[in-house]
Amino acid sequence: MEKKQEINESKLGYADPQVDDLLKHSIRTQLESLLKSKLTTSQRLQLLQKSFVEAITLVLNDTKVEHQQLTKAFEAMYDQAVQSMALAELSQEVLTRQYISATGLIMSVQNCKHTIKDVYRIQGYARGIDQAIAGKLQNSPSITILYPACGPFAPLLLPLLSYYKDSKSYTPDQIQVILVDVQPGAVLSLQQLVKDLQLEDYISQIAEADATEFVPDTGIDLLVLEAMQHGFTKEGQLSIAKHLVKFLNIDGWMIPQNVSIRGMMVIGETEFNQQWKQVDYSHSMNMSSEAQQDRIELGELLKINKSTLLEMQELELQDGIKVIPANQIVLPTDVADMSKRIFAVYAHIETFAQEGVGQYDSGITHPRPDTSVYIDLKPKDIEHTHFVANSGDTVQFYYQLSGLPGFVPVKV
Ligand SMILES: C[S@@+](CC[C@H](N)C(=O)[O-])C[C@H]1O[C@@H](n2cnc3c(N)ncnc32)[C@H](O)[C@@H]1O
Repeated sequence: MEKKQEINESKLGYADPQVDDLLKHSIRTQLESLLKSKLTTSQRLQLLQKSFVEAITLVLNDTKVEHQQLTKAFEAMYDQAVQSMALAELSQEVLTRQYISATGLIMSVQNCKHTIKDVYRIQGYARGIDQAIAGKLQNSPSITILYPACGPFAPLLLPLLSYYKDSKSYTPDQIQVILVDVQPGAVLSLQQLVKDLQLEDYISQIAEADATEFVPDTGIDLLVLEAMQHGFTKEGQLSIAKHLVKFLNIDGWMIPQNVSIRGMMVIGETEFNQQWKQVDYSHSMNMSSEAQQDRIELGELLKINKSTLLEMQELELQDGIKVIPANQIVLPTDVADMSKRIFAVYAHIETFAQEGVGQYDSGITHPRPDTSVYIDLKPKDIEHTHFVANSGDTVQFYYQLSGLPGFVPVKV
């Protein structure tokens, strides 16, 4: 262990004095992790495995668990996972490289490591996946799960597998998992974490590949996917889902089983500020009914599930950009203060059965204001990125499948 600290300290010594905050932060995090681990290897592994089992035990519990207890358990899981990542010894380049691919943002490993603390997203997925696995295993002795864009910790599955192993609920003969990520650092970190959690027998493959091109060598029973950001922008969820849904067995399921992307017109101050003044944390259960009543819902822009994905038709524009036609909406005419409102897009995620991730439960379902849309109002200087329409107009939405995915509204 001491040797490893020396190595990392010398890396710090040679660091460029111009390193930005991100780099400094990441080096510090790694060093802190190593300092914390004055434990023997077996003590560390025990703590790691315990933290994963405890966090998932809490979210699978049907009785309400306090927010603080949940966040504490998830922080503990993060603290332990980061130590495995530190042991994978990623270079700064591998840790911090973030870029835009042809189908969306590829977040750096450094930025992705935090998703394991996103309590209610993991809760909604883990509870859904748990039921889906139970459902599938009723009719089949074994299943294959594909989890693309899983990030460095694969947090929607590794904690659940730790729990299954600990509780002896399901064996590796019953569940085989394929993990895919395009970031070499995510793959290195996953390899270390899977080894540390002693879950190797459950993992058939950890592939370093672009999920929009990956071809699994077996049929898939469950496709678990979360590569989205708020407002369904930036990351390549749709391109990944559209490609991989083809490899689902005929009775295979996608998780989330349904994502509904909806539009609304809101008074920004009410929706994004006043609503949250009196509450401790943002969550769908803490939304104010007054603020909800003040919204003007415009309806669903796009529905994403196994059947819509299989039917989706792409249109290719002249410059090679591909778009998916989404829904048309008619802007209501009876809203007196329409010109004071901003357009916002949010996702409602049904993971499986009754489980889901509601608005504000996670960054991915947080409504996203889009200030390029002007209804009953003209911007001072119109730019080509602005969309200007009036109450009563019919608007056709398209979803752009480029490196910057997102909705493009067009007046009909
Ligand atoms: C936000 S992080 C991890 C999210 C993860 N699914 C979770 O549940 O926490 C996004 C990860 O997706 C990976 N990713 C994004 N687009 C990808 C693609 N087209 N192919 C493979 N990996 C991708 C990135 O490399 C990154 O590690």
